[in-house]
Amino acid sequence: MNITVDEVTGALKHVVHPAAGKDVVTLGMVQDIRIDGLTVAFTLVFAKAQDPVKNSIVGAAEKALCYYVHPEVTVQIRTLPESAAPKSVKKPMLQAKHIIAVASGKGGVGKSTIAVNLAVALSRMGYSVGLLDADIYGPSVPKMLGVEGVTPEAKTGQGEERIIPVECHGIKILSIGFFVPANDAVIWRGPMATSALKQLLYQAEWGNPDFLLIDLPPGTGDVHLTIVQELPLTGAVIVSTPQQVALADVVKGINMFRNEKVNVPVLGLVENMAWFTPAELPQSRYYLFGKEGGKQLAERENLPLLAQIPLVQSIGESGDSGRPVVANEDSTVAQAFMHLAENVVTAIEKLEIG
Ligand SMILES: Nc1ncnc2c1ncn2[C@@H]1O[C@H](COP(=O)(O)OP(=O)(O)OP(=O)(O)O)[C@@H](O)[C@H]1O
Ligand SMILES: [Mg+2]
Repeated sequence: MNITVDEVTGALKHVVHPAAGKDVVTLGMVQDIRIDGLTVAFTLVFAKAQDPVKNSIVGAAEKALCYYVHPEVTVQIRTLPESAAPKSVKKPMLQAKHIIAVASGKGGVGKSTIAVNLAVALSRMGYSVGLLDADIYGPSVPKMLGVEGVTPEAKTGQGEERIIPVECHGIKILSIGFFVPANDAVIWRGPMATSALKQLLYQAEWGNPDFLLIDLPPGTGDVHLTIVQELPLTGAVIVSTPQQVALADVVKGINMFRNEKVNVPVLGLVENMAWFTPAELPQSRYYLFGKEGGKQLAERENLPLLAQIPLVQSIGESGDSGRPVVANEDSTVAQAFMHLAENVVTAIEKLEIG
């Protein structure tokens, strides 16, 4: 098979430079394409030697060629200008009093909903809060906060470009969703996902927030590994629905943090969709997914039950409309999230006392 220049540029059009908001072909960054059998070589020209997303873009370009052109393509990328000394990603810049992972082990149980509302609730309590959407494969935080399609700005400071988190509803957020078109997220795998994540952690102006929350993807994959290995996590908040089928996966999620090599304290469990309450019958509770499955799991695992959040239409709708339900001053559901935030703070205080 013969690879053509058009195929190469077509694939590279899927690689977007986050700060410029355009793809690398349109930006004129791709030069000198050479093709020899299954080997494709080209140059990527960056405006700045220390572009903070350089590694991610190079990785994305490689993946795009494998994905769109040929799975066995060999890619050789030269970048210009060459950095004087390749700077490793700097760790000490990330300072947060408490870094908390919101995780589950199970998909679709409401991790992102809980993470977003917990973040806004902590901010309502007066804390400074950052929220990192680490779900490389299905980033949903920007949509839930109404900032989908926003491109974070970058600024130069201390000799390197730094990404400025987007501010909304009183919190600072960053998501891989700001940097890749939704349909392209599938190409962000393995080492590349990890490197993108590290940039969002270490090359961003998080300030020194009281809390940095991390919304993790479902399962226990590369991203989880990076987060638990790289970050001094204060603890993890685990989300589950009451369903029996969810619980086994959730236990795996809990054990990931409890693994002796990882050893991250689990702050407690949130039972989401604990019961259904229709808007017109606010006092009624229908246990669609079984009663108190999460509560029982918490007891079995010897964990605090941090909150029981009902399944209500307003939570789903607010997730779609970009206005988190906890921002609606004093609804019953908002109060449930405020209560969750208080319990998280208490759980951390208990840890600190020992
Ligand atoms: N308590 C709730 N009441 C109503 N809808 C909810 C509730 N919790 C979550 N949802 C809805 O369920 C869907 C899944 O929630 P969410 O995206 O938060 O789950 P997730 O665990 O982050 O999923 P993923 O594993 O894909 O990351 C969303 O549409 C959300 O609005
Ligand atoms: Mg999610």
